[in-house]
Amino acid sequence: MSKTTILIAAAASASAGAAFTALLLGRRTPSNLTPPALTIPDTPSAAIPPLLGTVSGIPGNSFAKKVVEPSGWFAYGAPGPINDLVIRSSFLSVYDRRMRNPAWVAEQITAESLVGGRSDRKNSTFLEDTSVPEKFRAKLKDYFRSGYDRGHMAPAADAKFDQEAMNQTFYLTNVCPQVGEGFNRDYWAHFEDFCRRLTSKYKSVRVITGPLYLPKLSDDGKWRVTYEVIGSPPNIAVPTHFYKIIAGESSQGHAPNSSVAIAAFVLPNAPIDNKTPLAEFAVPVEVIEKASGLDFLSLVPNEKRRSLCREVDCSILVREFPKRPPKSTASK
Ligand SMILES: *[C@@H]1O[C@H](CO)[C@@H](O)[C@H](O)[C@H]1NC(C)=O
Ligand SMILES: *[C@@H]1O[C@H](CO)[C@@H](O)[C@H](O)[C@H]1NC(C)=O
Ligand SMILES: *[C@@H]1O[C@H](CO)[C@@H](O)[C@H](O)[C@H]1NC(C)=O
Repeated sequence: MSKTTILIAAAASASAGAAFTALLLGRRTPSNLTPPALTIPDTPSAAIPPLLGTVSGIPGNSFAKKVVEPSGWFAYGAPGPINDLVIRSSFLSVYDRRMRNPAWVAEQITAESLVGGRSDRKNSTFLEDTSVPEKFRAKLKDYFRSGYDRGHMAPAADAKFDQEAMNQTFYLTNVCPQVGEGFNRDYWAHFEDFCRRLTSKYKSVRVITGPLYLPKLSDDGKWRVTYEVIGSPPNIAVPTHFYKIIAGESSQGHAPNSSVAIAAFVLPNAPIDNKTPLAEFAVPVEVIEKASGLDFLSLVPNEKRRSLCREVDCSILVREFPKRPPKSTASK
């Protein structure tokens, strides 16, 4: 299984040059038990690793007096945050170590990918993802008797083309605690079905799914984020909401300069009446970006974005889903 670790460093200043780079890449320097020497570089550090996010602050700022070297902390180890990126057959997932949930899961669905081999979710079992270090890993026992379903972000049914691909959707790095009755097994499942049905209109449908932890107005007039935490010790956050951003493409791959049909939705992690129109959950992509701190379509200019819900009927189709085997729920 291929696994890459992306480091989006929250580094304020990068001035330790090569040693800094080595630490970000996880290499230990022999001297990492002794405090780093206070060497004050007088030129900006050579290269900021390409995997870094925005690094603000000006290394070698000529106005500030250089007395200390805060980045010497990296000689003890870079704190992160580290996002565990895992590449699977039908999706990519990035894991949020603090919440013990994925931050986002991106998949592609096509008419071809939905053609079932003989894959069956009854042949899959939920799996802990050993690509995440043990102390940050979501565990099967954390979900046990939690009352929540182990809710897929990339649905198992989207990986019908191959049993192994379907099996991969059962890694807990593709799973969040979801309300079962009325949500995961009902409205959310119909919503996932809506995404699959889009393949009759678009050659390729890309879906990015993830959890949100949104503030709610309290009785005292203040906004607070409250979420349950499951497991023993409690460590997996129960998201308050889930988002999906859908991109309908008219060709299989990325056609340069072509436009894309986009829709975005935020649903509460709660029972939803099947009669509620899906359109009620539609939001501008920017709302999800602000709530999640993620950037989803930064390379798609406005003139290349079409409204998906103007091209298709954005509504769920309620039909009876076959009852899932009991092992797909964690409430037993
Ligand atoms: C699923 O399991 C059943 C019985 O365990 C087996 O007969 C069947 O071939 C399996 N299907 C796949 C796609 O692995
Ligand atoms: C899918 O997972 C099941 C249960 O862990 C396992 O028995 C089976 O061999 C897996 N199938 C494939 C094709 O990986
Ligand atoms: C890209 O598309 C725009 C219209 O959306 C068009 O004006 C432009 O000529 C196209 N550029 C290329 C290189 O095809």
